[in-house]
Amino acid sequence: MSVKTSTLTIDDKTIELPVKDGTIGPSVVDITPLYKHTGKFTYDPGFTSTASCESQITYIDGDEGVLLYRGYPIEQLAEHGDFLETCYLLLYGELPTAAEKQDFDLRVTRHTMVHEQMNRFFNGFRRDAHPMAVLVASVGALSAFYHDSTDISDPQQRLIASIRMVAKIPTLAAMAFKYSIGQPFVYPKNSLDYTSNFLHMSFSVPCEEYVPNPVLSRALDRIFILHADHEQNASTSTVRLAGSSGANPFACIAAGVACLWGPAHGGANEAALRMLEEIGSVDRIPQYIAKAKDKNDPFRLMGFGHRVYKNYDPRAKIMQRTTHEVLSELGIKDDPLLDVALELERIALSDEYFVEKKLYPNIDFYSGITLKALGFPTTMFTVLFALARTVGWIAQWKEMIEDPSQKIGRPRQLYTGFAERDYVPLGQRS
Ligand code: ACO
Repeated sequence: MSVKTSTLTIDDKTIELPVKDGTIGPSVVDITPLYKHTGKFTYDPGFTSTASCESQITYIDGDEGVLLYRGYPIEQLAEHGDFLETCYLLLYGELPTAAEKQDFDLRVTRHTMVHEQMNRFFNGFRRDAHPMAVLVASVGALSAFYHDSTDISDPQQRLIASIRMVAKIPTLAAMAFKYSIGQPFVYPKNSLDYTSNFLHMSFSVPCEEYVPNPVLSRALDRIFILHADHEQNASTSTVRLAGSSGANPFACIAAGVACLWGPAHGGANEAALRMLEEIGSVDRIPQYIAKAKDKNDPFRLMGFGHRVYKNYDPRAKIMQRTTHEVLSELGIKDDPLLDVALELERIALSDEYFVEKKLYPNIDFYSGITLKALGFPTTMFTVLFALARTVGWIAQWKEMIEDPSQKIGRPRQLYTGFAERDYVPLGQRS
């Protein structure tokens, strides 16, 4: 078998570096021997040209607008599958048979309650704390409760930790919501499916019966499928890096939640809705487009652009359809935010600046409108994203731990600080 290589000459040294092919997508130049042979590091802040690992979970073709989970197109999974089936697929690598699906659903359902002592953690937070702050802390706190699933060298314990994480994240997310609005926590209901149960824990109150609407439940389930994984994005890379030291799996997921919170990542759906509200009406769109194009103005159109997609985000298309479905089910005929969003998208997609820079709507552009219509306040949007992405984080964490070539992640740097200098005693400093 011939091994492909690429040749690199640095100073007077020439070395051959192996080129590795994936199933689909760009090949990679394996630079592992670079430092040993040349004494040089590569420099790639933001990892725009760097593959940090080998993975078999998710594939994105950003130029073509393709997203595959374990080879299956996101459009097909969102159309025909449900979220727990997607979880099974991400964790195990194959779609479940009917019997496997039934067994998996049951196991997740059986783990939805959190330790009663967890309630005390919530009570320590200010009521006005951001639910993401509460979620970071409560997910991290799981590491203090489930001591029987923290031996990461045991495949069985890894699996139990994974199922626990997928099962308990909706309970914690709903608790973060309930706490922020001053309502009592609602226990999970095992007779409901995963997403209906989450709606039940979020919206039911002890004094009134709550029956989840199946159309809305299905819409939210589809939103969860769309967000379930997205290869080596910032939060997933954070989980992998945290996990590479052998850290507790729940603590690693808390690190992922923390990273997701930022407005350049999961916080964008909150920011996108705020922006649509600020624009307020269709006639004000041109001035915001001008702001976004102005080099001296830091304003960006939130929900537009993506590090990887330089085409329409395939998730955004499904999201737009879901938005219409939810609004129609709720009888919302005229939503001014939707009007602004549709017109903003139309104008931006025909504007030279956005066309040239390949800035298309991303998934966050429409998700805010939908989640608001479902009854969630903006502060909960990123929490819902974290809920859905948890399975991706845990599947990627598991894959990393199970990779025999796994090492602790330890990037190097280009040092531009002072060279060595002598300590000056306090009295002699000017
Ligand atoms: N509005 C206006 N201009 C933009 C936007 C935007 N939303 N996004 C990028 N640009 C411009 C930049 O100013 C830059 O212009 P320049 O080349 O003249 O300097 C060019 O497009 C490239 O932008 P970068 O920031 O270099 O691209 P990068 O890949 O690093 O950023 C990002 C991607 C962070 C998503 C960016 O597009 C952005 O800030 N978008 C708004 C926030 C957002 O919606 N984030 C959600 C991401 S999806 C997710 O997390 C699920």
